[in-house]
Amino acid sequence: MATTNISFIRRLTSIWLRETNPARLQELYDAADRARREHVGDDVHLRGLVEISNHCRRRCAYCGVNADRHLKRYRLTDDEILECARRAIALDYGTLVLQSGEDPGRSPEDVARLIRRIKQETPLAVTLSLGEWPADVYALWRDAGADRYLLRFETSNPDLYARIHPPIASDEGAGDRGGSWPHRRDALTALHRLGFEVGSGVMVGIPGQGYDDLARDLLLFRELDLDMIGIGPYLPHPDTPMGRHPERFPPLPSGEQVPNNEATTVAAVALARLLCPDANIPATTAVAVSGGEEARVHALRAGANIVMPNLTPPECRALYEIYPGKAVGIETAEAVTERLSAALARIGRRIGSGPGGRACRRAE
Ligand code: 5AD
Repeated sequence: MATTNISFIRRLTSIWLRETNPARLQELYDAADRARREHVGDDVHLRGLVEISNHCRRRCAYCGVNADRHLKRYRLTDDEILECARRAIALDYGTLVLQSGEDPGRSPEDVARLIRRIKQETPLAVTLSLGEWPADVYALWRDAGADRYLLRFETSNPDLYARIHPPIASDEGAGDRGGSWPHRRDALTALHRLGFEVGSGVMVGIPGQGYDDLARDLLLFRELDLDMIGIGPYLPHPDTPMGRHPERFPPLPSGEQVPNNEATTVAAVALARLLCPDANIPATTAVAVSGGEEARVHALRAGANIVMPNLTPPECRALYEIYPGKAVGIETAEAVTERLSAALARIGRRIGSGPGGRACRRAE
């Protein structure tokens, strides 16, 4: 995209995000669906998600597992994680996603040992989603065989970012910029340089997030040349600073504030597909939790091509409630896969096999 056109495209993106006319929105969804078919095909790849620990040193104001919450904490053992990996293989998934809070109780070396074991004992691609760590830790995990890394930047507005992410004290090892927006951006650059496939993403409808902010986020996805893009609605958790003290996180005036509804979230997914046509884009769990199975299918028909069924053992899943409803009516990955397979057949799509990374597609 020529530099001179960037501000023009950002304005167009912002205008589309404000669209509420159902017929016009459908045009946007259809255009994204065509781009999806042309660039990534009809396969929907499944990634098995394992929430390996709910310990976290961070105090993100929106997140239900933040360090200040009184919550029973758990950490899965390597054997328990390998058991989940075996279920992923039985379900024919090509990728295991290991996600947790920033858990100081599992050392970088322990994580590297776990990655090596998964790579030795299974054919799975390994995606990590373990938060912000120094570049040498990312290098250690890359050397151990990890293929991909997910780290959402949540919002590209540095002031809003600072409001919802309290700083980390420098004695916690992150230096004086720990917890800041530039620190997050540097982490994404480091991951890219190390050769990971890199994923990032944002929440839609954070109080204080304007349409122009979200349009900037979408253009940043393209600038960062992301391999994976996760977009979900912000869902207030009552037992977090943002849930308990909404007056401290005021929304923008109506007309400026992005709503956290399905139409806007799916519009953001569609615009991400048009701006980054060959990225892997999930129909996220947050979309499904807020709008049900229909909303998930809606996202899959408006640009998304990935689903991440949850393989975490149910008793732990209930404790990984980063937003409300996430663990309500817990459905096994087996049940999700079966229902999805039927839903995909109805819309002329199918479950993909193999690792389904952006790199493999480029090599084809
Ligand atoms: N609502 C929606 N999404 C949330 N996340 C964390 N808390 C919430 C919430 N209250 C998302 C963040 C994080 C991802 C793992 O989950 O975007 O990066």
